[in-house]
Amino acid sequence: MSPPRQFHPAARLLHWLMAVAIVAMLFIGVGMASTVGGARAFLLPAHRSLGVVLLALAAVRLAVRLTRRAPPLPEDMPAWQRRAAGASQVVLYVLMFTIPIVGWAMLSAGGYPVTLLGGVRLPSIAPQSPALHAALRHAHTCLALLLFGVFLQHLAAALFHLLIRKDEVFASMAPWWRRRRS
Ligand code: HEM
Ligand code: HEM
Repeated sequence: MSPPRQFHPAARLLHWLMAVAIVAMLFIGVGMASTVGGARAFLLPAHRSLGVVLLALAAVRLAVRLTRRAPPLPEDMPAWQRRAAGASQVVLYVLMFTIPIVGWAMLSAGGYPVTLLGGVRLPSIAPQSPALHAALRHAHTCLALLLFGVFLQHLAAALFHLLIRKDEVFASMAPWWRRRRS
């Protein structure tokens, strides 16, 4: 069977839904961490709930990715660019799991209950310890910064394919773009 030209519809839906939500989460996170004003009371529960939903979606997305063939990269792409593309995808997946888990564990270690917007209370996943809470709080920030950096690199690579190489890579995640061009 010939390889697909585009990602599976479920992979594309999850990619764009999660792209919007993850970028929003980075800004919500920084916004709530830098204010003690009224907005914090609304942003914190929204951040927790959306973060847990993103964790669940990451699991579905990984399952889709592992069971559906991804379109191959263009054959004329230099080997280092292929390796960089593969490595950045792995890092993005690892961060999509570790950031929400670290967020959840940090609240557990601080003794704070993780209650979602619907009132559902999640179990604690880390022992209570002020030192662990502080370390995980720091790790959550560092991992979020790393995600922001890798996301910028990912965006630059996508634009490089779209505007400079003008190959099929962008359309493999956004087929409507191919239809618009033809
Ligand atoms: C994709 C998922 C997530 C992303 C991208 C994200 C990102 C961020 C960012 C950028 C910050 C601000 C860090 C700083 O300025 O120091 C933050 C803070 C925080 N996040 Fe997350 N987060 C995610 C998931 C979660 C989850 C699932 C939880 C908890 C269940 C959580 C709980 C928190 C808490 C409690 C803070 C600190 C608030 C404060 O002390 O002011 N996050 N997050
Ligand atoms: C608006 C910004 C974004 C654009 C334009 C974009 C574009 C693309 C394109 C064209 C691809 C297919 C080429 C490839 O395999 O690299 C792709 C794949 C991918 N993107 Fe993005 N992306 C964006 C945001 C994000 C964000 C925020 C994340 C996660 C933090 C992300 C994670 C991934 C992953 C993991 C893949 C591999 C395919 C998969 O398993 O879903 N992207 N992206």
